Amino acid sequence: HLSVKERIDQKRQAALQGGGQQRIEAQHKRGKLTARERVQLLLDPESFVETDMFVEHRCADFGMEQDRNKFPGDSVVTGRGRINGRLVYVFSQRGNSILCDILFVLQDFTVFGGSLSGAHAQKICKIMDQAMTVGAPVIGLNDSGGARIQEGVESLAGYADIFLRNVMASGVIPQISLIMGPCAGGAVYSPALTDFTFMVKDTSYLFITGPDVVKSVTNEDVTQEELGGAKTHTTVSGVAHRAFENDIEALLNLREFFNFLPLSNQDPAPIRESHDSSDRLVPSLDSIVPLESTKAYDMLDIIHAIVDERDFFEIMPNYAKNIVVGFARMNGRTVGIVGNQPKVASGCLDINSSVKGARFVRFCDAFNIPIITFVDVPGFLPGTAQEYGGIIRHGAKLLFAFAEATVPKITIITRKAYGGAYDVMSSKHLRGDVNYAWPTAEVAVMGAKGAVQIIFRGKENQAEAEAEYVEKFANPFPAAVRGFVDDIIEPATTRKKICQDLEMLASKKQVNPWKKHANIPL
Ligand code: COA
Repeated sequence: HLSVKERIDQKRQAALQGGGQQRIEAQHKRGKLTARERVQLLLDPESFVETDMFVEHRCADFGMEQDRNKFPGDSVVTGRGRINGRLVYVFSQRGNSILCDILFVLQDFTVFGGSLSGAHAQKICKIMDQAMTVGAPVIGLNDSGGARIQEGVESLAGYADIFLRNVMASGVIPQISLIMGPCAGGAVYSPALTDFTFMVKDTSYLFITGPDVVKSVTNEDVTQEELGGAKTHTTVSGVAHRAFENDIEALLNLREFFNFLPLSNQDPAPIRESHDSSDRLVPSLDSIVPLESTKAYDMLDIIHAIVDERDFFEIMPNYAKNIVVGFARMNGRTVGIVGNQPKVASGCLDINSSVKGARFVRFCDAFNIPIITFVDVPGFLPGTAQEYGGIIRHGAKLLFAFAEATVPKITIITRKAYGGAYDVMSSKHLRGDVNYAWPTAEVAVMGAKGAVQIIFRGKENQAEAEAEYVEKFANPFPAAVRGFVDDIIEPATTRKKICQDLEMLASKKQVNPWKKHANIPL
């Protein structure tokens, strides 16, 4: 007989072994790390505090009650730890807790394929409840064969318990999912409910039903990778926000990404010491917009030149590339950046870019992150595909998101701001706090050619009319004389201006009318 102390040690040892050496090796062969190896990479050394190491599944069917089918901790590792604790939170206003813990959940594929038992779900729910009570983000590392088949409805109930918590936590604490293996069936809805979903290339996939079911229902031949791999979800479906080469790169990028986020909606966006002067001028911007108004340029060049140390963490870089969104810092302060991308489809807004932009803006607004918007937009994309797809409904999302946002909003019109898209892109009329135009700005209902064809249809002297239109509208003055932009600024001064404005806006307080919740057009 073992003493209690010996039994405690034995169980702890067993928990550390997960599903055992053979399954650990199998995991490595698949090109994946184990849950515990992932913890070590994700968190600061020595900061990991594990909970529920002794929890075991309670299933007594299909021989599951036998000792060889019991694994202390079951198929998920849960706990808390720190990510760049000191560096990130040194300026955070959280009383004495300068080092703040984040809570996280890692599914352990080596135990029953990481499948979700009642006990597994209970462990996750406990962590999520704790995260909500202390106001700390939750990170989930998904690597699971789905519902524990032996447990039936118990497992399905467990998913629903998690989904409910995902929903309740939405907008309260940041929730991040990193998909590092399979995630299929109902299981996909937990990552889908979180704020950001990242994937590892080649080893992770997300789908509602796998290739076999697809074949039998729709007769389509498709591989797992084609159906739900990282490429599919970061370029075609828009389900995932970034893809990384392997486990290590994914975890290191997650650490970087995490530095931009506040701990909860009660906290300000983090500020960290910046070595990039806030009044740095950027002369290259004075000539970045081509003289010819139909010529493209790369909005990313403007963003990189303006933000601290050219450090821009782009979200969804390969999806709806006609809009650019992501996180950066200005004078050390986290900001969300939204920019039309003239390089892709002339930067027009379409269904996918509207949805991408709207979700990003809402995240920033929920978590006190100021939004900086760079505008060069010729309008919404015309065509039956867009109209039938519901561009009216989807475009309204972006409009809604900008309008309801109460965080500091700074807008810079670099060139075109045409039509309804001018209104949408964080215009003065949607409570933009500071709206600038560069000298190259053109704020009008549409471009000169289209406008003249409509208002002077069939008339002679089209060229003359066009010149008159350009003279009147293809410049920033019509907007500036009405106060719809606050100033026309030299592009080189943009960084300096934004940094000063953010300083002024740090104490901004704006409250929307009371409501149960808004009814954003979904
Ligand atoms: N419930 C219980 N055990 C599961 C499981 C589940 N949902 N999914 C996987 N496992 C177990 C396997 O029995 C295997 O156990 P073993 O190590 O004792 O042999 C282990 O996890 C590893 O699974 P394996 O199938 O060998 O791994 P793989 O990499 O070849 O395949 C999956 C991974 C996820 C594709 C495959 O396991 C699978 O299809 N699982 C079921 C998925 C599903 O339909 N889930 C329900 C939908 S919610």
